[in-house]
Amino acid sequence: MALQAPEGTKDLLPEEAKFWTHFKAVATDVFGRYGYEPIETPVFEQTDLFVRGIGEATDVVSKEMFTAISGENLKKLREGGTVKAKSRLSLRPEGTAGVVRAVVQHDLVPQGAAPVKLVYAGPMFRAERPQKGRQRQFNQVGIECLGAEEPSVDAEGIIMLMRFFATIGIPVESTALLVNSMGCDACRPAYRDAVKAYMDAHADELCDECKRRAEINPLRAFDCKNPACAAVMEHAPKITDHLCDDCRDHYDAVKTYLSGAGLSYVEDPKLVRGLDYYTRTVFEVQVTEGMGSQNAIGGGGRYDKLAEEVGGRPTPGFGFALGYERCVLALEAAGCEFPATQACDFFVACVDDSVRAEAFSIMQAFRDAGLTGDMDHQGRSLKSQFKLAGKMGAALVAVLGPDELDRGTVTIRNMRAHREREVEIAALKNFLSCFGGEPYGAPIPNIDDVFGQLEVE
Ligand code: HAM
Repeated sequence: MALQAPEGTKDLLPEEAKFWTHFKAVATDVFGRYGYEPIETPVFEQTDLFVRGIGEATDVVSKEMFTAISGENLKKLREGGTVKAKSRLSLRPEGTAGVVRAVVQHDLVPQGAAPVKLVYAGPMFRAERPQKGRQRQFNQVGIECLGAEEPSVDAEGIIMLMRFFATIGIPVESTALLVNSMGCDACRPAYRDAVKAYMDAHADELCDECKRRAEINPLRAFDCKNPACAAVMEHAPKITDHLCDDCRDHYDAVKTYLSGAGLSYVEDPKLVRGLDYYTRTVFEVQVTEGMGSQNAIGGGGRYDKLAEEVGGRPTPGFGFALGYERCVLALEAAGCEFPATQACDFFVACVDDSVRAEAFSIMQAFRDAGLTGDMDHQGRSLKSQFKLAGKMGAALVAVLGPDELDRGTVTIRNMRAHREREVEIAALKNFLSCFGGEPYGAPIPNIDDVFGQLEVE
């Protein structure tokens, strides 16, 4: 059997790959209006970054990371040796840790500087059990803002994410925005103790894993999928009853900004998110219909301690990521289709093989002018070349035969207007040479002008 893509991965075939490009462009445009600039970080980092940044007790780090190892180091390990910490690498399960590492490494927020706003897009890797909406390699678009702790940063982040979803076509009515505050170093320890005490009192109703969670990181039990644990945690102490005054004020301000922007949200005191770095604001956007259990299309929050965790100076941060594949499922659930594929401008058809070299040269002139098109590369008959041109949706077909070549002309058929005219090859090439070329993105000729302006006298 032919080899298949690994389990939990998905090929983006041309139609979808084009949509992914469009999706990223819309995100760059929408988030760019809020001052976010692109950053690219490696798809693998030192394992230690994720352990320290995301948290050892999280499922993402303890169960789902793909570790990468060079052949040389693998050999060392097999021979009973060890590898240095900096050679222990993992594929990124998310983008925040790497971006914060880069901000610290390159000192992108010098003391007293304005916050840095960064946007990224690319594949993330988590060894989860694949199912609809849950892959082992999936694509995220994310943003991170470092250097400001004001609630306005959190609010504008959430607002721009909702604006993006609307722009890309996900109906706002089909989404729910959940918000919560996770507190800070001042108020969370007491809250964590309260949750632990509650869990200890209900230990006989909890799964073994939650019993362990109670010892290491009790808040993770809010994410447990076991129905018995979920029933217990439903009545656990609520963080919102334990917030300190500063965290409460921060949370209230975020909510006021959201309401002011006309966003409806649901407060969910059980929303703790699966990553340990969050402080204060956390939020998630879920699709309410047609998505099954993997219905979170985006989420994020504030992480005021993460920069220090990875060795930097105190730098507050806020960010979110959205899952591309889940957005596609949300669009499908809303009845949207991928936009029509790019139009084909021209096709050059050869009457026989003797004209192929000149046809090739005409095709190149069209392309150098910035137009999109092709010719036959398989020796097809003229009839099937026209079929192919029709299938491609070519607006113009340039037909070249030996007689025309002798006259130095080519017949151009306007497929939409069902008209044709003979034009001089030299004049056509001369006309096309005024367009496209350098710099990339220079004006492209209008198809009707190509057809209309040139005619044999
Ligand atoms: P996350 O909630 O783990 O947050 O992931 C963000 C989004 O990625 C999810 O809402 C979901 O749409 C998508 N996603 C996650 N796992 C999968 C998967 N296995 N298959 C398909 N899609 C998936 C983060 O990653 C944080 N880094 C967000 C953040 C940025 N927080 C602060 N800054």
